[in-house]
Amino acid sequence: MADDANPPRARGATAATRAWGPPRGFFDVWSRVYDHPVLQWMTYRPVHDAVLRALRRRPPQSVLDLGCGTGQLLARIAGELRPRRLAGCDYSSGMLTHAAERLRDGSAVPVQVGGTSPPAAHGATPAGVALVRGDALRLPFASGTFDAVVSTEAFHWFPDQDAALAEIARVLRPDGTLLLGFVNPPLAVIGDVFRIGSRLLGAPLRWPTPAALRRRVEVAGFAVTGQRRILRLPGFLLPPVLTEARRL
Ligand SMILES: C[S@@+](CC[C@H](N)C(=O)[O-])C[C@H]1O[C@@H](n2cnc3c(N)ncnc32)[C@H](O)[C@@H]1O
Repeated sequence: MADDANPPRARGATAATRAWGPPRGFFDVWSRVYDHPVLQWMTYRPVHDAVLRALRRRPPQSVLDLGCGTGQLLARIAGELRPRRLAGCDYSSGMLTHAAERLRDGSAVPVQVGGTSPPAAHGATPAGVALVRGDALRLPFASGTFDAVVSTEAFHWFPDQDAALAEIARVLRPDGTLLLGFVNPPLAVIGDVFRIGSRLLGAPLRWPTPAALRRRVEVAGFAVTGQRRILRLPGFLLPPVLTEARRL
């Protein structure tokens, strides 16, 4: 139902109606408990592991983590892959504050924290990390800035997924890599139930099936090169899937 009611729009098309997402304050509050080790181990770590495995196959020189949260994945990318340019973008200042603390404490890399300015887009320190407050629907980066854009457990919160994909396509260079890791339920009806329920609670989320996400990504100007289920407990009806795509 959700997929038919909300077909993907081609690159550059505009939303007919104004979509809305959860308020930033929702994530600011969440950031206080977000780094609990059990929560991280059970929920987020398996998705980060899958993204890192994919990045290691073709290590990028410049990476954007979109919806980077408290910087757990950013810290691992900085430590393990050491790209020349690494940026985290999130619209919650609470999340970004925790990310800045983690990156400063946990590694030798310099961290630049920008309000809504894009330090990474204009010559960030090599091997440095830029944390930028910004909205996925209007990314504060120049076109063609990154070799890879990754986004874990965040894409379902973006109120207009086609607009977010268009922005991701814009900031990626041609042939750049997109890695999206989040829940893709096997049946559209499961996504519909959560979409309606979360909307009633004031924090709407949108979980597409793998096939529906593939269509959206392709319409946005990507070739989907793989969709792999990520093992996580419990994950029977709500399995995370890693979608890998290449910008055409
Ligand atoms: C569940 S957290 C995931 C954080 C991180 N990617 C991880 O795997 O640990 C979702 C993140 O998406 C961010 N987010 C939600 N909507 C956003 C938007 N429209 N633009 C930018 N960030 C957004 C939230 O602030 C939050 O930090």
